[in-house]
Amino acid sequence: MLLEVRDLQVEFRTRDGIASAVNGVTYSVAAGETLAVLGESGSGKSVTAQAVMGILDMPPGRITGGEIVFQGQDLLKLKEDERRKVRGSGMAMVFQDALSSLNPVLSVGAQLAEMFTVHRGMSRADAKAKSIELMDRVRIPAAKERVGQYPHQFSGGMRQRIMIAMAMALEPALIIADEPTTALDVTVQAQVMDLLAELQREMNMGLILITHDLGVVADVADRIAVMYAGRIVEEAPVHEIYKAPAHPYTKGLLESIPRLDQKGQELYAIKGLPPNLMHIPSGCAFHPRCPMAQDVCRTDVPPLGHVSEGRRSACHFWKECLNG
Ligand SMILES: Nc1ncnc2c1ncn2[C@@H]1O[C@H](COP(=O)(O)OP(=O)(O)OP(=O)(O)O)[C@@H](O)[C@H]1O
Ligand code: SF4
Ligand SMILES: [Mg+2]
Repeated sequence: MLLEVRDLQVEFRTRDGIASAVNGVTYSVAAGETLAVLGESGSGKSVTAQAVMGILDMPPGRITGGEIVFQGQDLLKLKEDERRKVRGSGMAMVFQDALSSLNPVLSVGAQLAEMFTVHRGMSRADAKAKSIELMDRVRIPAAKERVGQYPHQFSGGMRQRIMIAMAMALEPALIIADEPTTALDVTVQAQVMDLLAELQREMNMGLILITHDLGVVADVADRIAVMYAGRIVEEAPVHEIYKAPAHPYTKGLLESIPRLDQKGQELYAIKGLPPNLMHIPSGCAFHPRCPMAQDVCRTDVPPLGHVSEGRRSACHFWKECLNG
């Protein structure tokens, strides 16, 4: 397995108290596989990813438990300089907002070239040639002419392509894309997502794709992990989860996708508010909002249990959910 996150726990110490942002996340990604991570805002998707990348804000963040095993090595046991090496060439991240992730006063070519001069010891001329090649590869028109331009001279979609190019530059084994298309126009979103999926296949990389949008992942993901209150509540091969969710929260998410063939239908949003991470509800954290909740849900935490091959659910009544 390329990456295995086991029982990861992250908390934030704030003036108001301790927010339990990640409460025992376990997931894995194989080479060449795409894992989509879904869940409402605040469910811990980005914090988990930041912990894996080693870019968590510490303090106020603190990793209080678990393991992050990447290519056989527990990253949480590495020193910062070893960690930096992994971050440079083993894994890379694509963020939502390219404009704030790219350096505004350096040309995109210079930023791409720096990957090769710093990490690969290339000459400046070779690095420039490599940068143009990379810009071509992410299909930026007239790469040779545009290599000297600055981030603000590119459209949002083109900037996102440049960020993908930066992430791919050193051919990492794992890419984490955190809402890579959210800031783009709908038509451009699909193009950028297709590009990401194509490069991932070509380079046989593992991809963790974080998104709110179940509609986007249907085509590109192999598996889906659904997060709620800092835990995985369901994990399954993508087609199975669309056919029949084994967790009421997943069911709620699926029902909230607007369907093109059902125009005018009322959008179903999950009732109630996401939990306060300083006071996560007892038992199943989803119980105050769950239409299937019973007494046991208020007292007993449902374990993330086996449903079928490759499929797990943290619900006491997953069978009823699956059949309902
Ligand atoms: N720097 C921080 N300081 C304090 N608390 C934080 C910090 N970063 C994250 N948190 C807490 O961790 C929780 C989970 O945040 P995270 O960014 O992982 O959510 P998310 O699932 O990525 O949501 P979104 O879909 O909005 O990006 C937040 O609700 C917040 O309470
Ligand atoms: S354990 Fe209970 S409250 Fe939680 S999702 Fe299942 S039915 Fe709903
Ligand atoms: Mg996030």
